[in-house]
Amino acid sequence: MNLDDDYGLDAATDARDAEAEAFLCDIHGEPSEFATALVSGLSKRNKAIPCRFFYDAEGSRLFEQITSLPEYYPTRTETGILRAHATHLSQLVPPGAVLIEFGSGSSTKTELLLAEMDDLHAYVPIDISPAALDDARARIAERFPRLRVTPVVGDFSRPLPLPAAIAGHARVGFFPGSTIGNLAEADAVALLTSMRAILGKGAILIIGADLKKDVRRLIAAYDDAEGVTAAFNLNLLRRANRELGADFDPGAFSHLATYDVRHGRIDMHLVSGRAQTVNVLGHRFRFADGERIHTEHSHKYDIAGFAALVQRAGWQSREVLTDPENLFSVHILTAS
Ligand code: AVJ
Repeated sequence: MNLDDDYGLDAATDARDAEAEAFLCDIHGEPSEFATALVSGLSKRNKAIPCRFFYDAEGSRLFEQITSLPEYYPTRTETGILRAHATHLSQLVPPGAVLIEFGSGSSTKTELLLAEMDDLHAYVPIDISPAALDDARARIAERFPRLRVTPVVGDFSRPLPLPAAIAGHARVGFFPGSTIGNLAEADAVALLTSMRAILGKGAILIIGADLKKDVRRLIAAYDDAEGVTAAFNLNLLRRANRELGADFDPGAFSHLATYDVRHGRIDMHLVSGRAQTVNVLGHRFRFADGERIHTEHSHKYDIAGFAALVQRAGWQSREVLTDPENLFSVHILTAS
């Protein structure tokens, strides 16, 4: 995994660590899990913190704020695509099928589809957060009282049991948000393979992927004028202070978003503003002036590149929906 990582001399060890840490970023890490990941990430030659730890309560609140920033085009663009094509998407879903959403969170985009899919047997939101699932279930039950909703708490990056009630029904997967972009290529292929196994024969997967575009526009989306993304990134350090009693001085680090042309991805970093030492759970971590902690990859694709990626996981891209500006794509995949 992570054959394309850039972790230098420690590549072999770091690749193993990365494998152990190959979760999705919109999954809340348990505090003890955060402790382990933080200490191991800061011990690397190229310091890194896995991006799934962004999303504690404060981080989730900041991410919500990001989604409505003028510079952050992905959420509103994908929502627009889904709204424009909701009827068409509903026609792809066979009567009596089950809609399975991976990392459903608040399920807000799903409501656009559910409003058009009147012949669903069930909606199965999968998420690692029971609280998010409870909220989503309550909201959906109110708006769609006749829809069967069977939430599954779990990590879909590995095989997981689905409710018995959906056995024998055609399955349609939904994975919006370009969350797939957080994963290195090999990990993305592994996740798509696991989704194919969960969805089974004849499945359809509706998946969002952010598109390559003007670099300045990309960077602005990850370095907004209001500084909300900076606060979101720095919240990792504040979270370490809150939960683990670390002594980061958040004012001594700054937010940095860069675009890596070779890998076609945004990278987010926290940059140490001076030489300093930070204590975390009895470990001392030294930072040189200007040293970076890597915090997130967000891959950008072109349509052919994404089709080639999914193909490696046994999927075929049958149709691609985009917006008039070609900012974002929604692919309709079938298991080949
Ligand atoms: C939720 C992973 C899709 O990569 O655009 C937003 C997370 N990070 N701003 C993304 C994010 C910084 C977001 N995803």
